[in-house]
Amino acid sequence: MATRFEALMARRGEIMRKALGMDYSVFEQSPVAFDYEGMMTAHGYSLEDIAGIQARAGVGSTPLLELRNLTDLVRSISEPGKGARIFVKDEAASLAGAFKDRRASVSIHVAKEKGYEGVIAATSGNYGAAVASQAARNGLKCIICQETYDSRKVGQPEIVEKGRICESYGAEVVQMTVGPELFFHMVELLDETGYFAASLYSSFGVSGIETLGLELAREMTALTGAPPTHVVVTHAGGGNTTGTARGLKRAGATETEIVSVSVDLSGLHMASDTDFNRKSFTTGHTGFGVPFATWPDRADVPRNAARPLRYLDRYLTVTQGEVFYITEAMAKLEGLERGPAGNTAMTAAVSLAQDLPREATVVVQETEYTGAGKHHWSQLNFAREMGVAVCAGDPKDNVPGKMIVIPERLEQIRARDFDVARMRTSYVRNALKNAPAGYAPTADDIAFLAADTNSDAATIEAILASLEEA
Ligand SMILES: Cc1ncc(COP(=O)(O)O)c(C=O)c1O
Repeated sequence: MATRFEALMARRGEIMRKALGMDYSVFEQSPVAFDYEGMMTAHGYSLEDIAGIQARAGVGSTPLLELRNLTDLVRSISEPGKGARIFVKDEAASLAGAFKDRRASVSIHVAKEKGYEGVIAATSGNYGAAVASQAARNGLKCIICQETYDSRKVGQPEIVEKGRICESYGAEVVQMTVGPELFFHMVELLDETGYFAASLYSSFGVSGIETLGLELAREMTALTGAPPTHVVVTHAGGGNTTGTARGLKRAGATETEIVSVSVDLSGLHMASDTDFNRKSFTTGHTGFGVPFATWPDRADVPRNAARPLRYLDRYLTVTQGEVFYITEAMAKLEGLERGPAGNTAMTAAVSLAQDLPREATVVVQETEYTGAGKHHWSQLNFAREMGVAVCAGDPKDNVPGKMIVIPERLEQIRARDFDVARMRTSYVRNALKNAPAGYAPTADDIAFLAADTNSDAATIEAILASLEEA
């Protein structure tokens, strides 16, 4: 007899189709390729439509700030002629405190238009608050499924706080221990309630982020006469990079370099009960950033709209201690006390700006709110309680899950390049692994893989040959 799990999983395709109001099979072109642009535009909204939906939802049009004090400090430690201007888009000014409002607003609009009674999302982070806030404004019911605890029932303070915020918006919050049951429960709830799946990874959500790229390109052009030379993006599941880059391109900012950034949590496994609470950052880290970039379709939708390898030019990593240092610096120099996610990109921006000419313009495309469990003091206390050492010193001595080293001087902050070529290879390997055994990619597949990795046919052919040899 099939278990409850097996029976539900067997019906998962049909349940998700109903819950998304969308049939993904129409976009499939082969065991490898699918029509990405077709999927992204199937909702029928233009970027102007989306901006209109968001304006009515109280979302977007956040302030763009030039960080003059931070720029001056960076210039004081840079070589002559170097030290780019640094700007930030203050997304913490959004209703629920992060750019995730942009993502949620389009999904909730669609759910309301299509007559769903409520929405469900699986998320432990800011997206839950954004969905709950938008659902409240639209009179829709809302269920948020969170991975909150380890098996001892110890909750990450940031996630526990996020649960309280979702409840305050009237959402029902289902809290679970770390493990595969998150997806199972979400599908079960979608089946029972008939609610809309407000997935982080649907084309609705990711299209909603495009307005962020569009706004910042226009605002920088008004302020400096040109789009930014560099946009720095905190990266986890990849929607932030994808949506922002798509918006920039649609604004004509095709020369802007896209730099994605994650906190280095190498060696820690996100699905591990013991590692779960040994990280201070619940998002914007390599534990999500690398697996999602190298295989986006591990998501809760058949094809992920967030495909960061299509768009990023560089991928940088920073350490937890470096981000805590910049978090304090931002408050003391710029009067902006903000949360860790945006400050992850800010940390890399400080490093990057030192290497760029003074004429270059670097935009950190988000901040997030901070407070209670998310605050860096709360996170550092929690790290100590979990047995992680916290000290001052050289960030090179940082060991994820074991030691957080807070730099002593700004000069010690140096972002490190992650090997994007290796990520491309890993992506192609995963794409083939998910095709039937022995499947030989066609010329169209190769063109798709090249587009999906921001490379070209020759690069993909070389990767395929290297995988065959291995
Ligand atoms: C404030 C904030 N910034 C950045 C990210 C990373 O976005 P993405 O998962 O789309 O890469 C998140 C995701 O949780 C977030 O909440």
